Amino acid sequence: MPIRPYEAKDRDAVRYICLNSDGPCEADEMGQHFLLTTYCDYYIEREPHNCFVFADEEDRAVGYILCTEDFANFRKVFYSDFKTRIDPARTAEHKWAEESIVPHAQHSADFPAHLHIDLLPDYQGKGIGTQLMNTLFAHLRNKKCRGIMLTVFRHNTGAVRFYERYGFDRIGENTNNIVFGKLL
Ligand SMILES: CC(C)(COP(=O)(O)OP(=O)(O)OC[C@H]1O[C@@H](n2cnc3c(N)ncnc32)[C@H](O)[C@@H]1OP(=O)(O)O)[C@@H](O)C(=O)NCCC(=O)NCCS
Repeated sequence: MPIRPYEAKDRDAVRYICLNSDGPCEADEMGQHFLLTTYCDYYIEREPHNCFVFADEEDRAVGYILCTEDFANFRKVFYSDFKTRIDPARTAEHKWAEESIVPHAQHSADFPAHLHIDLLPDYQGKGIGTQLMNTLFAHLRNKKCRGIMLTVFRHNTGAVRFYERYGFDRIGENTNNIVFGKLL
């Protein structure tokens, strides 16, 4: 099965995908550390049971869907991890991380879960994103989760189209992002 639950052996490959799904990552070391702390490490460390990967023929992860099923729990742990891991002097990054989950706080009653999905460039446009979504949705429905949401950079028109095609509704927006939600 090319789609399977995340395993500890996938950690490096998943972190690589997080940084390189839009092509080679241009961020410096601190920038990469910030991106991984904000968008990847919480999920694979704290909720690996809610994460799935698409693996190539050598069983190397080349795409993923990462998820938290309960925003209230996520927020507590995410902030404490973040404060420990990111230098307090990097105030812009602390502000960014806090603001990145404001929409989730606003919509968590109907949409307690949220996700991040990324594929390496060679694997995009082949239906794998749709398969990863199907896998996560079936998993969350089994858990009786009420709804799931995500934010996407508004200029990422390909991803916006993907979420619309998958049946997400626009539930909000801010300067940089569109907020999508789907009841399960
Ligand atoms: C966004 C992403 C996860 C979608 O996964 P995917 O496997 O490429 O998408 P699929 O092949 O399953 O496409 C499903 C539908 O979405 C649409 N879609 C997907 N990517 C698209 C793109 N770049 N432009 C326009 N439409 C797109 C397709 O048209 C397709 O509809 P169709 O069945 O009518 O053709 C993947 O392209 C990706 O990782 N992109 C780079 C990272 C990224 O932007 N992640 C999301 C950050 S919020």
